[in-house]
Amino acid sequence: MMKKPRYVITLILFVAQTCCFAQQVNVKKAFQQAAAQTRVMLQEIEKSKDPARPELISPRTLENGNLKLVASKDWTSGFFPGVLWYLDEYYKTPQWKAEARKFTTFIEKEKSNGTTHDMGFKVFCSVGNAFRLTGDPHDKEVLIEAAKTLATRFNPKTGVILSWDHSRDKWVNPVIIDNMMNLELLFEATRLTGDSSFYKIAVSHATTTMKNHFRPDFSSYHVVDYDPKTGAVLKKTTHQGYSNSSAWARGQAWGLYGYTMCYRYTKNPIYLKQAENIAKFILDHPNMPKDIVPYWDFNAPQIPNEPRDVSAAAVIASGLYELSQYSSQGNYYNNKADLILKSLSTNYAAQVGDAKGFILLHSTGSKPSVSEVDVPLSYADYYYLEALLRCKKHKTAVLR
Ligand code: GLY
Repeated sequence: MMKKPRYVITLILFVAQTCCFAQQVNVKKAFQQAAAQTRVMLQEIEKSKDPARPELISPRTLENGNLKLVASKDWTSGFFPGVLWYLDEYYKTPQWKAEARKFTTFIEKEKSNGTTHDMGFKVFCSVGNAFRLTGDPHDKEVLIEAAKTLATRFNPKTGVILSWDHSRDKWVNPVIIDNMMNLELLFEATRLTGDSSFYKIAVSHATTTMKNHFRPDFSSYHVVDYDPKTGAVLKKTTHQGYSNSSAWARGQAWGLYGYTMCYRYTKNPIYLKQAENIAKFILDHPNMPKDIVPYWDFNAPQIPNEPRDVSAAAVIASGLYELSQYSSQGNYYNNKADLILKSLSTNYAAQVGDAKGFILLHSTGSKPSVSEVDVPLSYADYYYLEALLRCKKHKTAVLR
């Protein structure tokens, strides 16, 4: 083969770089906005505290323009401490670390709350990040106890972890796609203890969910109900999506992120393939807007006049950055994640001083319940910062 002259190679590199620059993410600027907003949030939290309800400590959203604080038992309680840990990871200053530690301490008691599957969201996003960044042995103990508590919700008959105890009038043994996110805590617990039982539960849950939650096009149902005595699937429904057969956007995001994370711990190619298939469903969907910030449900009836879900976009971006590390289509996923972050940081970020200190606007919690529609949500902020850090790590960003 003829060797290409040096100027041709330079030209190819220049063109490639120019394309990449068109979708550059300014991580530094995005973190400046996030830090400024979080300082506002810390003041707003102090103003919103109710001495009669001292258990309300973690910001979740805005309700009629007011800051809504939740107790540690709320599934979203770990995200704000996580935001603080990500700011600490980026800036490495004692101030962010001190705030992160303060808010994390409030969540620790959830380690023994066995009434919900949301242990990973609550404890791993807070204490998990604390342990990753500080190595404090106390955090390790909390994580192990939390994993033990979560494991009590596993039923060997169904092969999955029970999600909700509530709504027994609707479901016998509901398992939601979101539950994939709690497996990270179990995988970590095996890494920390050498006890493989946590790992086995996580693998069983992931493999059973792959069988029962997914449709032939790799979109997923939100809620699958199981018979806890036989393990039979009773029905496949939704709670936060448009319909039982629709593709609720955040559910698709949890699946993408979840199977990518399962591949990280197991290196089982079936999980990688699953993540790639889910990514294809999401990225190729005809109802996905050009800026890759999905509507709250891919089948919402009034598209394009439907609210977006920025939280789903943030989870997808973070998941795609990780997937890009394992897949042969890495560059493609990286570019898509860059585009999402570019959109979020340019068109969905709050003005500094607004939105009581939330970082991103325009998420949707549960449209069918007319709850948290087109508002900031703490988990959108959490996965956005995680994605920005992943972007920085993968050196796709232009740092100024
Ligand atoms: N795990 C609840 C949600 O995604 O809204």
